[in-house]
Amino acid sequence: MPESPSVLCCLFMAGCAIMLTPSGALKFTNTSGLVISKEEARISNCEMSADSIAATGEKGLKQLSQCQHLTQDQITAIRQIISSGNTSFGPPSTWTSSVLHQLNQLIPVQGHSILRSIPKDVLMPWLQNSGLSQSQLVHIMESLKSSRRKREADMCPNKELNSTKILNEDQINDLADYTPEDLKLCLTKEHLVNNISAFSAYGFTDEQLAAVKSKLDEIFPEGYPPVVLSKLGLIDDLLTAENIKNWTINSPSKVKDFLGSVSREDLRTAVIQRYMESGGQIDGAFLNAVGPYVCLLNETELSMINEDKIKEAPRLDPSSCSSAIKDKLYPTAKRAFSPIHYNYPEYYARIRPFLGGAPGEDLRALSKNNVNMDIQTFVKLKSSSVKELNVENVKNLLGTNLKDLPAYQDTPFVQEWIQKQKQSDLDSLGLGLKGGLPEGFIVLKRRN
Ligand SMILES: *[C@@H]1O[C@H](CO)[C@@H](O)[C@H](O)[C@H]1NC(C)=O
Ligand SMILES: *[C@@H]1O[C@H](CO)[C@@H](O)[C@H](O)[C@H]1NC(C)=O
Ligand SMILES: *[C@@H]1O[C@H](CO)[C@@H](O)[C@H](O)[C@H]1NC(C)=O
Ligand SMILES: *[C@@H]1O[C@H](CO)[C@@H](O)[C@H](O)[C@H]1NC(C)=O
Ligand SMILES: *[C@@H]1O[C@H](CO)[C@@H](O)[C@H](O)[C@H]1NC(C)=O
Ligand SMILES: *[C@@H]1O[C@H](CO)[C@@H](O)[C@H](O)[C@H]1NC(C)=O
Repeated sequence: MPESPSVLCCLFMAGCAIMLTPSGALKFTNTSGLVISKEEARISNCEMSADSIAATGEKGLKQLSQCQHLTQDQITAIRQIISSGNTSFGPPSTWTSSVLHQLNQLIPVQGHSILRSIPKDVLMPWLQNSGLSQSQLVHIMESLKSSRRKREADMCPNKELNSTKILNEDQINDLADYTPEDLKLCLTKEHLVNNISAFSAYGFTDEQLAAVKSKLDEIFPEGYPPVVLSKLGLIDDLLTAENIKNWTINSPSKVKDFLGSVSREDLRTAVIQRYMESGGQIDGAFLNAVGPYVCLLNETELSMINEDKIKEAPRLDPSSCSSAIKDKLYPTAKRAFSPIHYNYPEYYARIRPFLGGAPGEDLRALSKNNVNMDIQTFVKLKSSSVKELNVENVKNLLGTNLKDLPAYQDTPFVQEWIQKQKQSDLDSLGLGLKGGLPEGFIVLKRRN
């Protein structure tokens, strides 16, 4: 007993070589004192899946505290519970020897940021009497040591990380225990490009995710590349319109990339605003880049869309916009495409995304031209225009796609149309549509 505190103290200062000598810490390794009847219970607990560990929380931790061989998945789950702070143990800086005793075998599987946070005057005496194995003690000492070294040089504590482009499971598990500052020191552009999605899957804390985000801001000041943006996962919540104000969005192709890879409407609006602020023009190329996100343009911007620009923007698609926007753009689009009216299939292909603003008479004209309108386009038409169509008009408008109508018969849009039709006309379609205007007795008798 008496020599051990000084030995451990030595270890802490000088590294692990001394630890391998037969005196000191080794002497206190004692794993043989287990009662057999407890042994069986212990084995089954030790095989708990990561999911059940996560589900049982602190209780699960106590059950695992005697297990010497934990899988990487179990370790990840254990670390997640501890770093979530959802335990009665409190933060590591307040842990007492009683907490360490309860966690026991779970102490060596913690990473250096937790180990370093445990008060030294609690951790060191406990280690001497913990019964941890020699290799566990070495691991703990190494963890404490490496973070000390880092603090001196402001370097990533794990130099190897800098030379690997792709993080493997062990490396990302290690990173989950880094302090936010260390994470920023260690992450490289390659890690962020290749493995950004892993940061959402491995139990990083909010503070760590914020550090990853801040590293992204540092590495990609002109905006994250699409491959990163589309896989941000939990980090996505940290991205704001304010960020986008700092990005370089000065061409239609950048607009297209960013609109296609950010996840939320507020961010897309910010992308468009940033383009406008950078002196971008609302021309055909921009509208083509905007595609379905034209709905996000404000009134001033929308009023700048003329026939020529619509012609140059085959991807422009206001079909999901408000009816006010559709009503505004349809007449312009109709004028833009009237020169190709002689080629009906081409005319229809171009006018289709704008038809939500078309009046009933234009839909009737379409129904005479074998357009075979798809049901998605149909259900986005203007309700008041569709109500002007009779059963024959709709049959001809949908053509070969008429069979898709029954699937939508319970939608308010189709219901409103059905309620204006005679049931006998609906029956003539043979689609089983119900809810039309009732017939007189004579008609019913004749059908029977
Ligand atoms: C080691 O385990 C034995 C039981 O096998 C026990 O009697 C002894 O007190 C333990 N030693 C320490 C230091 O815990
Ligand atoms: C905290 O852990 C318990 C189980 O120990 C769980 O039921 C609860 O949902 C957890 N709370 C949070 C906020 O994760
Ligand atoms: C990583 O390595 C590159 C050169 O390969 C070097 O310029 C950079 O400073 C290193 N980063 C860290 C954090 O060590
Ligand atoms: C890191 O990225 C590579 C390549 O995309 C992938 O194979 C690997 O599984 C990722 N690592 C983790 C821990 O997700
Ligand atoms: C935008 O850039 C400025 C100057 O580079 C920086 O100070 C600011 O924090 C950045 N804002 C955001 C939200 O990234
Ligand atoms: C529309 O956005 C532009 C910036 O693109 C702005 O200058 C203008 O004031 C906005 N107009 C309205 C009506 O909000």
